Amino acid sequence: MSNRDFDLLLAASISNGGLNQEQIAQILGFKLFGNPNGFLLLNGTEIGDIPSTPVSRAGMCKSDDTSERLLLQATALLGEPIGYVQESGGCIVNNFFPQQTQSRAATSDSFDTELELHTENAFHAIQPDYLLLLCLRQDPAAEAITYIASVDRILERLSYEQQAFFLNEPYNFFSDYDATEKNQRIAINKHQTVLYGDPDTPFFRFDPQFMVAYSDRAQRSLETLRGIAWEVVEPVRLSRGDLLIIDNRRTAHARSPFTARFDGSDRWMQRTFASCNLPCYTEKLGKQSRIFELVTEL
Ligand SMILES: [Fe+2]
Repeated sequence: MSNRDFDLLLAASISNGGLNQEQIAQILGFKLFGNPNGFLLLNGTEIGDIPSTPVSRAGMCKSDDTSERLLLQATALLGEPIGYVQESGGCIVNNFFPQQTQSRAATSDSFDTELELHTENAFHAIQPDYLLLLCLRQDPAAEAITYIASVDRILERLSYEQQAFFLNEPYNFFSDYDATEKNQRIAINKHQTVLYGDPDTPFFRFDPQFMVAYSDRAQRSLETLRGIAWEVVEPVRLSRGDLLIIDNRRTAHARSPFTARFDGSDRWMQRTFASCNLPCYTEKLGKQSRIFELVTEL
């Protein structure tokens, strides 16, 4: 989709996105005040006509744009819709459904592999502030579960010393893509702490499969933290029309495996990212865009 076509769709989404006043108030309330769970779930939104789930991106054909407008209206209430060159070719609205070739891959197109808890793009200098997941179709056996662990719940289980450790100990965050390819595991010289920001109400970044500790103590602490994060997760089972909004600076999320049939009835999700800092990134990069390459430093 060209930039102009996307802007037209975004304008249509703002004026005719389908969210009602109550839902708009819930999203703005979540943005301004947050909540201890770090996510907001709006059930049963109107998403229009959904064709059979495709089995490949090339086979995707969706003429009714009700779901895209709803998702983009919600995204625009939270910030600027952004995308990444390495994610779905830089599309702002990402479509995920099981693809046979992606079986067991650690990506959103996988289905028979559990995706471990992670903060989205924890390695990237331009991290999404919010992640929005709109369910177009639940998997036929209703097995898929999204899990969210919030920093508020995790902090309740960490001692003062543990909190101080995670505010100060850097880990090496690897990237899962380079300039051209996804599903990598590459060092990009990104040394960051798990907790950051205001020590009293810290942000959280966490991606154990892509974090390298600098000491045995740091490795053990990471494993302890992973266990605590799994203890506090909130499970969410998404069905048609459910919109899940995740605060990506205060949570980590995961997804269970589920069964795919490749007969048009499979799970189909749409995803967007919202950024609250776009003017700042434009200033630092000296370039205005909604779509980003891998940025390691600002
Ligand atoms: Fe994710």
